[in-house]
Amino acid sequence: MIEELIRRWDGLAVVTSFDPVTGAWTFIGMHDDTLGPCVGGTRLKVYDAPSDGLRDALRLSEGMTNKWAAIDIPYGGGKGVIALPRPLTSEEREPLLQRYGRLVGSLRGSFRTGQDLGTTTDDMVTIARETEFIHGIDRGSWTAIDPGPFTARGVFVGTRAAVKAAFGGDTLAGRSVLIQGAGDVGEPLARLLAGAGARLLVSDLDAERAGRVAEAVGGTVVDPDAVYATPCDVYAPCAVGATVNSDTIAQLQCRIVAGSANNQLAVPEDAERLHERGVLYAPDYVINGGGATAFGLLAQGVDDEDELYTRVELIGPRLHGMFAEAASRDESPVHSACRTVNRALGRG
Ligand code: PHE
Repeated sequence: MIEELIRRWDGLAVVTSFDPVTGAWTFIGMHDDTLGPCVGGTRLKVYDAPSDGLRDALRLSEGMTNKWAAIDIPYGGGKGVIALPRPLTSEEREPLLQRYGRLVGSLRGSFRTGQDLGTTTDDMVTIARETEFIHGIDRGSWTAIDPGPFTARGVFVGTRAAVKAAFGGDTLAGRSVLIQGAGDVGEPLARLLAGAGARLLVSDLDAERAGRVAEAVGGTVVDPDAVYATPCDVYAPCAVGATVNSDTIAQLQCRIVAGSANNQLAVPEDAERLHERGVLYAPDYVINGGGATAFGLLAQGVDDEDELYTRVELIGPRLHGMFAEAASRDESPVHSACRTVNRALGRG
């Protein structure tokens, strides 16, 4: 299984380590370093099998290669996955993250990381005390910056661009957006969209969280099982990947798929399926690049918040250009995004 996954992957290397104390497997996918050191977040999650964690590390690090290339920041694609066999106890978490920090440090900067699904700003501070190769940390105050609001801002301007391409108008007022996952990105995204007059439908596996966010934005809760078949203008996947697949595409009642999740499509052909059904897809690694943009620029010494948000908002015109190119060629926007990545990586 593991041999097969790595054999079929076109990346550079996978750093693998087993933690005997917790039984966790760590996989650091280093996909491509054409543009710079491999950088991407660290995901901490319970997986049924370690190979599922490896598969995530491989796919997600490839997504980061595309993301850095698409947002024009000189890093390569990397991703850390700490695959847990079971939930951690509160006493186990900090020492495990310290050991992970020392592993990252041992790579001497060829892999650098930050917050992702399942890790928190507190976790990043713990890791950063072990290694300098952590993004989004203010070492003066030992606080970590949450990438969520930056990612949300990028998805927000990207959604506006998608609405313009699909419906012609520039306004989100009255448009219905179904947010799947009211977490670190989903919640601030819901607030931005509500502020622009959109009608929110909110879903989360955690019913309490869905209810709290829906109430805060005057929206409606949608049961997790009903997400795909619920009519809406925009379906915004903001949680795990592969929610857009042949099964769910057949059910979708939306005009647009635009959200923050990484690897939204189960397989590349799903982009064609969406296109055939007349659903406009905002390529995930383009629309969700706001956090990466902010962290990349912070590492380059840009620390003015307005400047960071201004750069994040370039995701809007970037997607606008991709949607226009896709429309003129009657193809999915993924092809325009892919050409952008290939050009940036000098693949012709
Ligand atoms: N995890 C986020 C992403 O996938 C933000 C991030 C980028 C975190 C780069 C660390 C480093 O884009």
